[in-house]
Amino acid sequence: MLALLLAVASPWLRRRVPNVWWALCGYPAAAVRVLWTWRQLADLQNLSVPKRPPLAVLGGVVLRGRALKPIKPRMGFPRWQRGGLVVRVRLHAGQTPEAYAAACESMAHAWQMFAVRAVSDARGSVSLRASAWDPLTVPFVPFVGSAGVLSAVVGLWEDGARWLIDLRRVPHWLIVGATRSGKSTLVAALVSQLARQKVALVGIDLKGGMELSLFEDRLSALATTRGEAADLLGKLVEVALSRMALCREAGARSIWELPEKGRPVPVVVLVDEVAELYLMASNSDKAEVTQVSTALLRLGQLGAALGIHLLIAGQRVGSDLGPGVTALRAQLAGRVCFRVSDKGTAEMALGDLDREALDAVQEISDDTPGVAVAFGAAGGSWMRARSQLVTPEEAQRVAKRYGYLAPAFAELEAGGAS
Ligand SMILES: Nc1ncnc2c1ncn2[C@@H]1O[C@H](COP(=O)(O)OP(=O)(O)OP(=O)(O)O)[C@@H](O)[C@H]1O
Ligand SMILES: [Mg+2]
Repeated sequence: MLALLLAVASPWLRRRVPNVWWALCGYPAAAVRVLWTWRQLADLQNLSVPKRPPLAVLGGVVLRGRALKPIKPRMGFPRWQRGGLVVRVRLHAGQTPEAYAAACESMAHAWQMFAVRAVSDARGSVSLRASAWDPLTVPFVPFVGSAGVLSAVVGLWEDGARWLIDLRRVPHWLIVGATRSGKSTLVAALVSQLARQKVALVGIDLKGGMELSLFEDRLSALATTRGEAADLLGKLVEVALSRMALCREAGARSIWELPEKGRPVPVVVLVDEVAELYLMASNSDKAEVTQVSTALLRLGQLGAALGIHLLIAGQRVGSDLGPGVTALRAQLAGRVCFRVSDKGTAEMALGDLDREALDAVQEISDDTPGVAVAFGAAGGSWMRARSQLVTPEEAQRVAKRYGYLAPAFAELEAGGAS
């Protein structure tokens, strides 16, 4: 009776309350499908191995043995997850997780899931994570609240977990993406949370301040021309050097080892459209570009321990902008790659280490702005994520409300403690 009721209500549940549908109908059916199809899938995808080869050589004569049934890899029970399931598989000796990654597409079809990913989180086994639908197209109510100083929940990972950017763990970030892919919205999501914390925010926006001026009330400084940026970055390097002297005096290796009372306030430097800083129209620009580039690089190298963090957004951050950019990119360990128009840009942002991540970037369509591939998911790998949509009005409102927390820039220069 109950089963009949569920079968009738299933399409409605799926449309209206997908999580409830998944728990009651989708998951049990998918778990059965996973277990039922495993032998055939493993055989067809060459994941099963025969215990002994069916041929033997005896004195130069080839003997054909009795055909051995291939042994399928041992699989655990599929465990429920929000909007998906996960199942652990033990690797046969000689197998690597790549063999399973290559078979993910077939598994997704056989199990009627949206996508399957093979994650190798322990030696000798691989976890197959299947999601029932694309979680990034489903609207969600994100958690807003304190995630700890210098960290912010900026959206949702593909597996349903909160996407946290923690500058204490990964100090500097590079955010790339084509125009209207969601870079500034991610910065807005981050700022609207950092604004509530005891953190100084500094902006560099050479698009005439169009994007970052929204947060002006909460910014300690905003540079809108390259001249201003050079001046501001120069001053920040001075701040870094004086913090370094402070740490040395106290025998500390970072500002976080200083007593809380005298600890300088962390500074987050936001740069929107970094290419503008490096473009040279004439020779006279050269000195300024060099100045900016050196200062950014020094902040990248010294900043992490001194509480100065870089968050750099741009459409392209390639070596064609000069050698300074390549060196700077190496300092920005945190990477977020939104939709891009060419593979080269994705490779630049994510490195060419992970083919799968590069393919995932190329599959981001332009009707889902805010979807990106980012590093920093659970297990330290890449994953797709979607940023929280923070409208310019919301960002402006938060910046106004918490404007009183913005330390004056002169205070930072004077070594202002938090
Ligand atoms: N997470 C999101 N969810 C829904 N819509 C989004 C999301 N992120 C961005 N958008 C939409 O996409 C539009 C463009 O985003 P945004 O301005 O952040 O792009 P951008 O990469 O900064 O572009 P540009 O390079 O032109 O500055 C926004 O107006 C917003 O409506
Ligand atoms: Mg923008």
